[in-house]
Amino acid sequence: MENIESKFENPIIRIENVSKIFDDHIAVDQVSLNIYPGEFFSLLGGSGSGKTTLLRMLAGFETPSSGKIYIDGKDVSHIPPYARPINMMFQSYALFPHMTVENNIAFGLKQEKLLPKEHIRQRTMEVLEMVQMGHLGKRKPHQLSGGQRQRVALARCLAKSPKVILLDEPLSALDKKLREKMQFELVDIQEKTGTTFVMVTHDQSEAMTMSSRIAIMNNGSLEQVGPPSQIYEFPQSRFAANFIGSTNMFEGHIVQNDGDEVIIESEDANCLFYVDHMIEGLDNQKIWVAVRPEKVDISIEPPENYNSENPHNCVQGVVAQIAYIGGLSTYHVRLPNGKMLKATDFNVERKANNPTWNDIVYLSWEPSNIMVLSS
Ligand SMILES: Nc1ncnc2c1ncn2[C@@H]1O[C@H](COP(=O)(O)OP(=O)(O)OP(=O)(O)O)[C@@H](O)[C@H]1O
Ligand SMILES: [Mg+2]
Repeated sequence: MENIESKFENPIIRIENVSKIFDDHIAVDQVSLNIYPGEFFSLLGGSGSGKTTLLRMLAGFETPSSGKIYIDGKDVSHIPPYARPINMMFQSYALFPHMTVENNIAFGLKQEKLLPKEHIRQRTMEVLEMVQMGHLGKRKPHQLSGGQRQRVALARCLAKSPKVILLDEPLSALDKKLREKMQFELVDIQEKTGTTFVMVTHDQSEAMTMSSRIAIMNNGSLEQVGPPSQIYEFPQSRFAANFIGSTNMFEGHIVQNDGDEVIIESEDANCLFYVDHMIEGLDNQKIWVAVRPEKVDISIEPPENYNSENPHNCVQGVVAQIAYIGGLSTYHVRLPNGKMLKATDFNVERKANNPTWNDIVYLSWEPSNIMVLSS
């Protein structure tokens, strides 16, 4: 897998061991992170996990209790927000209600006293066109829809051509359809301008579809950082596995470890997991095994090589529920011990004999698709 750390030498943002303590509450806990030029980077985590606090420290609205932040190679500890090569888009958009769209955008540019009037006008129109709002420049914010206000706020951020734009839940006020459209447009604008975007979101599918990399935050700490596919396929903890996508999770312990073949026994799956990749340092402790639903095969007939005496990488259960979504179906299957598993099947062929409610089915998976987690 391509390693982004080796792709660029100089991070645009370097966060070194940064903590933020409010009274006696640790909001951000020793976070170290590099963000590279041109990335669409997302901070993803539940409510209160410290995402906004970290973003506000990048913008300069909060001061770290300890640690250092470098932007474009400079320690920004003593640089106020307006002097950083960064612009922040607030969740509320924070547009000036009495100003027209054009003036909202020109406002920031006018603060830079040296810019000629004509340049300000030109740049204002340019960024308005970029967000497809050129025709609504004379309106005031209350005459705009939520999505349009969001575009104006983005145009205002872009106007000064900052190196980095910070976005705190930029799409949360929009309905689902508009949100999906804006997700696409935001990425498009980000790519066209080459600006580095750092976005906060608690929506995992939004983070997955938009980001080059994601940092999962939990309790002020970074749980895992990586491209969406890497976090999905190779989560490092149960938290990360559960936070991104859906998963079937079992408790277990290693009963045999010969280096390249590892056997894990799981009581709550009542089966053995044969794993074909090396697992080191986890003998004699509780571990977890996880398999994503789309990597579980569901069949009425036993899979090939099924060993009824000593089943491995296969369990039997009863179909309890089916969520049919056209292109795919997710089967909820109850094991004899009551545990529910999910298997997603892509409906690539028209079949009349798919498993149905109360069918006894086999669920099986390939050794390579077993994720083994220690925490
Ligand atoms: N100014 C403050 N004073 C005291 N505590 C604060 C302050 N700002 C944030 N906190 C606390 O720090 C923790 C992290 O807050 P933060 O706003 O960064 O979370 P978040 O991940 O952005 O959550 P959400 O998804 O709800 O916006 C929370 O427990 C919050 O209550
Ligand atoms: Mg927040």
